Amino acid sequence: MSAPLLELRHLVKSFGGVLAVAGASLELAEGELLALIGPNGCGKTTLFNLVTGIERPEAGAIRLAGREIGGLPPQARVRLGIGRTFQVPGVFAALSARENLEVAATAAGRPRREAHEALERAGLAAFAERAAGELPHGLQQRLELAMVLLQRPRLLLLDEPTAGLELAESLAVAARLRRLVAAEGVAALVVEHDLAFVRALGAEVAVMLRGRIAARGPYARVASDPEVRAAYLGSRG
Ligand SMILES: Nc1ncnc2c1ncn2[C@@H]1O[C@H](COP(=O)(O)OP(=O)(O)O)[C@@H](O)[C@H]1O
Ligand SMILES: [Mg+2]
Repeated sequence: MSAPLLELRHLVKSFGGVLAVAGASLELAEGELLALIGPNGCGKTTLFNLVTGIERPEAGAIRLAGREIGGLPPQARVRLGIGRTFQVPGVFAALSARENLEVAATAAGRPRREAHEALERAGLAAFAERAAGELPHGLQQRLELAMVLLQRPRLLLLDEPTAGLELAESLAVAARLRRLVAAEGVAALVVEHDLAFVRALGAEVAVMLRGRIAARGPYARVASDPEVRAAYLGSRG
């Protein structure tokens, strides 16, 4: 059997006295879509930061296709195929949508033509000359994702892609992501708060509680887990 695309083993990261990630283990297969849910402050963003190299773990292993990457700087991990989006979209506000994609294409070593294809594919052609900072939040997120895809990642890490979106929009994002994963064969780990989105994603769900992955499985099973209900679903009414 080949190694999983992403393998996290007993990762630990603390800030001062706060144990943000407390022995988290997780596996993601090539081309797999997985939702990561959990209450505020349980360590989801820190886990992403460990995988992308923004933070270094104090203990544990991070493997990409069997290779230990925990010591590599963020840019090296991008080159190995790890792409991510942020809770606040990482676009250049003063540049147009087209210019943002051109910058991303250049940074990824792709021809300019691919920036224009990406603009079409993301459904952003009508907004090409608008300053990114003036686009509605949902379109900024779409632009950011299109920029990340120019890197041709094998693994996408999406941090709350529906933050600030209406329900209908967020369900459209779920459908878009499902299609993307199926069409491009890219694997994606999606941090999400919105359970309607998670249900619509139709993927497995991992639950993070107090810095650990506490449960994983189909949405219906995870959502009925007593510990999950008490710690997460219960706390949200
Ligand atoms: N850079 C940091 N400095 C200090 N504490 C941090 C830092 N980043 C995260 N934390 C703390 O680590 C815990 C986990 O945070 P985070 O990973 O952002 O959780 P989530 O994304 O699940 O809401 C929280 O208690 C948070 O306050
Ligand atoms: Mg977070």
